[in-house]
Amino acid sequence: MRGFLILDFGSQYTQLIARRLREVGHYSEILSPLVSIEEIKSKKPYGIILSGGPNSVYEATSPRRSVTALAEVAPLLGVCYGMQLMAYELGGQVQRGTSREYGPETVEWLSEMAGVPQKQNVWMSHGDVVASLPTGFKLWAKSSTHIAAFQSEKMWGLQFHPEVAHTEHGEKILSAFAKFCSAPADWQTSEVVKELLQKVKAQVGPEQKVLIALSGGVDSSVAAMLVTKALGPERVQCLFVNNGLLRKNEFEDVLHNYQNLGLRVEGVRAEKEFLSQLAGVTDPEKKRKVIGRVFIETFEKWVEQKGGFDFLVQGTLYPDVIESVSVVGGSHTIKTHHNVGGLPEHMKFKLIEPFRFLFKDEVRRVGLELGLPAPLIWRHPFPGPGLGIRILGEVSEERLQLLREADDIYVSYLKEKDLYNKIWQAFCVLLPVKSVGVQGDARTYDATLAIRAVTSTDGMTADWFAFSGPDLREISRRITNQVRGINRVVYDVTCKPPATIEWE
Ligand code: XMP
Repeated sequence: MRGFLILDFGSQYTQLIARRLREVGHYSEILSPLVSIEEIKSKKPYGIILSGGPNSVYEATSPRRSVTALAEVAPLLGVCYGMQLMAYELGGQVQRGTSREYGPETVEWLSEMAGVPQKQNVWMSHGDVVASLPTGFKLWAKSSTHIAAFQSEKMWGLQFHPEVAHTEHGEKILSAFAKFCSAPADWQTSEVVKELLQKVKAQVGPEQKVLIALSGGVDSSVAAMLVTKALGPERVQCLFVNNGLLRKNEFEDVLHNYQNLGLRVEGVRAEKEFLSQLAGVTDPEKKRKVIGRVFIETFEKWVEQKGGFDFLVQGTLYPDVIESVSVVGGSHTIKTHHNVGGLPEHMKFKLIEPFRFLFKDEVRRVGLELGLPAPLIWRHPFPGPGLGIRILGEVSEERLQLLREADDIYVSYLKEKDLYNKIWQAFCVLLPVKSVGVQGDARTYDATLAIRAVTSTDGMTADWFAFSGPDLREISRRITNQVRGINRVVYDVTCKPPATIEWE
């Protein structure tokens, strides 16, 4: 699809530029800042955006490229570092900042900008600033101390970040740039679905067969629905593994729901295998590795028995792809996520990754468009290693049972009180801590349960959800009354960072 290209000079907000553009109807892709001009031309972009970045144009190692060559392909928008690069390359002056300026500021437009008020609040985050304009450029907006925006016949530069929510009218500014580029607002879910279906049909030959491992979550469910719609259920086999670490009734419910949706799905019961391999394991990373390994073994055994699959569908999302193009590189491994990562060498599948270019919210919209039920689309994320990483210490059937009952009571309460959809993720964690209690006049010495609920937009950062006192009281009362073996409930009031969302 034709759209906008965003060259990522390393800003923490680059993904947001892509998301905001898509939200206002324009497809956008993120590329390395040093991608060849031939590749850029081959994509026929309507416009090119040079993102912000942590560097100064004066550093020897800072990423640079000819903006004149880029402007011959399409109109340019430079944001922060992108703007400074334009000024620097075209003979303007960039003044080195002595410290980074970070936060809200007011800017004043000196001529019309897409009907936004003449004075508006914006979000700045920069070190250097443009001190004088290159020839052919006009001052467009200023802050109290410096140039906030400039324009020429083919280029716009913004010192602030239109993609950040704290910048007022940011979407209008991005839409105005799209209009300046004469780009049609054609990134609409119905069109996206049509294109995704066509792509799958084109990728898979008429005799070829496709396999999907379902997790019960949004991405794999939407992928299964999409691929089944494109190829028909005879050629698409879904697999759902019971690793014994699922929530109460989840295996049966999920299988039933998928079958009702017309998917060809087979459930594989491997609880015993997972639990026996987890016996005695208490270290979080070891648990993740064991669960990952047993999953692969189960998967491999099943595929060997059935045979005949040419493709494997994976629910890879765009943020995973972007990680590999960024100049800043990947982040540290905090936890070994995505346990279904590496298949053994000899399992040679071709991959179908229909959502390689979609953000999570777009996958959700695709799912709704394909007719998946809203409760499935808005399910809270659930990690691959399941309850295995929500039981601190050793995982046993007995402890799983406790956690399943408590979690079911907690989540049912949130749904009953219309709180579930206000929360990104809510779950219980069974702690390896016993404490003394009193129930029915008798002393108890039972397990402690932590409950967690967080708000977030992407799971990268999170804030704890502020329940009302009566809600917390009622959740605690129901759990301690109904689950024998838990006599104490605590609420986790930690953000991410410094904590992670899951406890292990
Ligand atoms: P953390 O705990 O790192 O989690 O703050 C961020 C988000 O990722 C989910 N998560 C996982 N998802 N496999 C998954 O598919 C995993 O191994 C895994 N570990 C964490 C977590 O639930 C949260 O939404």
